[in-house]
Amino acid sequence: MRIAVVTGASSGIGREFVMQLGYFYRRLDEIWVIARRKERLERLKEESRVPLRIFSGDLMKKPVYKEYHRALRELCPDVRMLVNAAGFGKSGTFADIAEEGRKIQTDIVDLNCRALTRMTQMTLPYMGRGSRVINLASAAAFCPQPGFAVYAASKAYVLSFSRAVGAELKYHGISVTAVCPGPVNTEFFDISGPLRSPLKKMAMARPSRVVHKALKDSRKRKSLSVYGAAMKAAHIGTKLLPHSLILQAEELMTQ
Ligand SMILES: NC(=O)c1ccc[n+]([C@@H]2O[C@H](COP(=O)([O-])OP(=O)(O)OC[C@H]3O[C@@H](n4cnc5c(N)ncnc54)[C@H](OP(=O)(O)O)[C@@H]3O)[C@@H](O)[C@H]2O)c1
Repeated sequence: MRIAVVTGASSGIGREFVMQLGYFYRRLDEIWVIARRKERLERLKEESRVPLRIFSGDLMKKPVYKEYHRALRELCPDVRMLVNAAGFGKSGTFADIAEEGRKIQTDIVDLNCRALTRMTQMTLPYMGRGSRVINLASAAAFCPQPGFAVYAASKAYVLSFSRAVGAELKYHGISVTAVCPGPVNTEFFDISGPLRSPLKKMAMARPSRVVHKALKDSRKRKSLSVYGAAMKAAHIGTKLLPHSLILQAEELMTQ
């Protein structure tokens, strides 16, 4: 059985991956989808070209991994693609968010880093030559971000992890692509809080475009997928300029 696995499939970028995967892979028997909102996944099942197998549960808790692992063991699928899209962020200073909720920042690390690592670890034994992993990092991974500190740090982990594991897996014929979009028009901002910077609002991308580029880049076995001229420029800027200088410039812009 040839399958793809998508976390965070109930909305935004993960959902868009499910919708586009059927066009990129002609011979997928199933897509296994993971998220907490079961009713959303049931609705997606009716819209998807490829049959979906639903695993509804919280990736910060054990039961969904148990169910997923059992299915892997029993069905021994050939996983052609793993998309780790589940994630969230919260904007505000570290101290302010800590006051708002004791667990929010550690939950960001748990979902964005720990769950992604765990999903990759559990799935890899079922992936063979020619298969691909896509991890949702972010342009926030390029540079530390005051006002988004934990989220940006969690995405720097995803980027670093993806590149290192990608280098290791290259010799096994498995590619890993870290997707680093700027702002994408999804429900992400309902949770993180609205974007304040007019520049970032202008750079807002459509999820369909980001996902299309990610799938194309993954097919080319690229280690990085950056959508749009603005984010490509930001990526080059953060490589050329010292981060201390970028942090000072950001401070001036927010004053
Ligand atoms: N939107 C952006 O501007 C942007 C930019 C760069 C990178 N990204 C990254 O892209 C990824 C997808 O984000 P998005 O924009 O598509 O946001 P979204 O629309 O809010 O989707 C987030 C997905 O993650 C799932 N999720 C959240 N908490 C979960 C949990 N505890 N257990 C299982 N699933 C959980 C959600 O499903 P349930 O709520 O049903 O569980 C949902 O399907 C994230 O990793 C995000 O950091 C987003």
